[in-house]
Amino acid sequence: VRRHDLMGLSVVVSAGGTREPIDPVRFIGNRSSGKQGVALAVAAAERGADVILIAAHVDAEVLADALAHPAVRIERAGTTDDLADAVQTAAVSADVVVMAAAVADYRVAGISDRKITKDSAESTTRTLELVENVDILAALCRQRRPGQLIVGFAAETPAEGESLAERARRKVLRKDADLLAANEVGWTQGFEADENALVIVDRAGDVVAEPHGTKREVAEAVWDAVLSIHTP
Ligand code: PMT
Repeated sequence: VRRHDLMGLSVVVSAGGTREPIDPVRFIGNRSSGKQGVALAVAAAERGADVILIAAHVDAEVLADALAHPAVRIERAGTTDDLADAVQTAAVSADVVVMAAAVADYRVAGISDRKITKDSAESTTRTLELVENVDILAALCRQRRPGQLIVGFAAETPAEGESLAERARRKVLRKDADLLAANEVGWTQGFEADENALVIVDRAGDVVAEPHGTKREVAEAVWDAVLSIHTP
């Protein structure tokens, strides 16, 4: 029934974790594998969309699924700044943008051109100064064209007794996205795993779906939610 229901739509999906260099050999990164973003890209392509997948750090093995699909064009982006440039450029002609990438909120101030060596001074601690990165999702929402849909993700570690839906609601209102898919993350959950569970809220903060299953299955539910609010 779903087949080709995204035909005619241009979509942009970001995937994987950005890496912020410290010096030529080190970076600050995160555990995103890119599996969720790649699943979103492949699901959209199989439903007929033209897809640009903007991949931050994603292993070749994970990317292979998307490489095999002729309707998916892949662009690589290393840092948050690179990802912001690539997403902004691709978004100009996109009907839908989905930000599934795990984006570093901060980058290193004063990246060293030479490998930082162990401090011979007495101190056993070392301080890295960090500078806030651009919020790509919030910028996309501010610049959105009429009819364009912006979908955010939220990686959350709710405290005991706190609901994921409430956190999703707060984040969707703050970022002003059309849809927000919140997933609980932890040492063994969300990042890297093959399965995921989402609470998808609309821009008013109301829950529209709570899919769980493989990352491909929850990706299909995200596209169903997009279609439910899309007006051509
Ligand atoms: O890649 P996997 O291993 O498959 O794991 C999937 C996932 C857990 C990474 C994915 O499902 C997910 O939740 N991605 C979003 C991770 C994240 O950065 O969440 P956040 O709550 O920090 O950010 C909220 C939203 O703002 C996200 O859409 C993010 O892409 C975006 N953002 C964040 C910071 C920033 N500077 N710019 C942004 O655009």
